[in-house]
Amino acid sequence: MNRPKIIINAAMSVDGKIALVGGKRIKISDEMDFKRVHELRARVDAILVGINTVINDNPKLTVKEKYVPNAKNPVRIVLDSKLRIPENVRILNNAAKTIIATTKTAGHRELNAEIIRCGEKRVDLKCLMEELFKRGIRSLMVEGGSTVISSFLRERLVDELYVFIGPVIIGGTAPSLVGGNGAREEKDVLRMNVLSCERLGYGILIQYEVKK
Ligand SMILES: NC(=O)c1ccc[n+]([C@@H]2O[C@H](COP(=O)([O-])OP(=O)(O)OC[C@H]3O[C@@H](n4cnc5c(N)ncnc54)[C@H](OP(=O)(O)O)[C@@H]3O)[C@@H](O)[C@H]2O)c1
Repeated sequence: MNRPKIIINAAMSVDGKIALVGGKRIKISDEMDFKRVHELRARVDAILVGINTVINDNPKLTVKEKYVPNAKNPVRIVLDSKLRIPENVRILNNAAKTIIATTKTAGHRELNAEIIRCGEKRVDLKCLMEELFKRGIRSLMVEGGSTVISSFLRERLVDELYVFIGPVIIGGTAPSLVGGNGAREEKDVLRMNVLSCERLGYGILIQYEVKK
């Protein structure tokens, strides 16, 4: 299968949470980690997030001039099976090209974005990866949220995983790094290798690969 190189990147708390209880955004990264993330964005061809992240956080997903001057913005991609993206979100601005990945069963809408249809109920990630490859996308950074990260990991569509662990604890039912159904049996646990680990700003950055 032809697909881009896939890098997952996320910031989590000491207890593995990526947002507050109820999903509200919290700043977990510090300035050094933001700089690393923007440098990574500037190196990849595309960045992908789920529709809930767009609705909750309204991210721009561009490269900030203050971190990387004169950078090229990667293509922005949203997984949105029902094509429910609000029209006024920042990801649909003209700062970079945007692709909405949806299903064959979703309705039709005029949006400031290219629409790719893959799958019937949920966006079929393998089909989408092939479509992105056909469009020249050779590297893709997945920025969340936890449902999307879970899908990429479960389908083994990941080459590298970067996790920044900020020195905060959130607790309770806040969303964790990997959502979805989780593993009930030991055989369903995803095993990783640590590729690198370093102290970065006030936190720790760990780079993993999924064990073959
Ligand atoms: N700390 C961090 O690094 C970080 C980064 C990003 C986000 N976040 C946080 O993550 C939270 C959102 O996470 P979330 O898990 O609720 O939502 P999400 O992962 O942003 O979006 C999930 C949604 O994407 C759609 N989708 C379509 N096809 C999919 C597929 N094949 N696999 C998975 N999802 C697919 C589904 O909605 P439809 O069925 O409607 O299409 C699904 O419910 C927010 O609170 C945000 O603040 C944190």
